[in-house]
Amino acid sequence: MIFRKATPEDADSIMKLEAECMPHPWVRSDIEALTKEPLKEAIVADNGKDITGYIGLSFVEDEAEVGNICVSPENRRQGIASDLLDEACLSLRSKGIKTLFLEVSSDNEGAIGLYKKKGFGHYNTRKGYYGDSDAMLMRKDISQE
Ligand SMILES: CC(C)(COP(=O)(O)OP(=O)(O)OC[C@H]1O[C@@H](n2cnc3c(N)ncnc32)[C@H](O)[C@@H]1OP(=O)(O)O)[C@@H](O)C(=O)NCCC(=O)NCCS
Repeated sequence: MIFRKATPEDADSIMKLEAECMPHPWVRSDIEALTKEPLKEAIVADNGKDITGYIGLSFVEDEAEVGNICVSPENRRQGIASDLLDEACLSLRSKGIKTLFLEVSSDNEGAIGLYKKKGFGHYNTRKGYYGDSDAMLMRKDISQE
């Protein structure tokens, strides 16, 4: 498995992942923007045959946000999302970014478990943000590792 920066040619594979993993998949223009715009980036997990996971990031000054992270259902619980977060932190740190933020639904136990394990702290809640569930706002200081 290699982890590399996504290119516009990865858009179809990322769209397939989004369709498999997300109730409201991102549209092509959003995904292409991740591979083209200067303040955005996507990193993919590539096993030589398929893109098994990806993380989408945006950043400004010394802050960044995880827009999305997903791993195909048949490849979960093998550490791929953890590795994607590690690769993201490496890349962001090299750009001088100090804090990584994200937002997760309070009913997404898998993602919350992942973020806690990777050292994110819960700092605020937006009640009812997703209708039936709250948005948990989490962040991690990535400047020190
Ligand atoms: C959340 C997601 C990205 C995790 O990907 P993954 O590659 O399976 O994650 P990892 O293997 O790196 O898991 C690391 C740790 O996170 C936690 N975790 C991951 N999935 C979990 C689950 N379903 N339930 C509970 N804890 C979970 C565990 O602590 C796990 O460590 P362990 O396997 O040693 O117990 C994946 O389940 C996914 O794509 N979900 C759908 C999309 C999604 O909800 N994205 C987040 C949007 S905010």
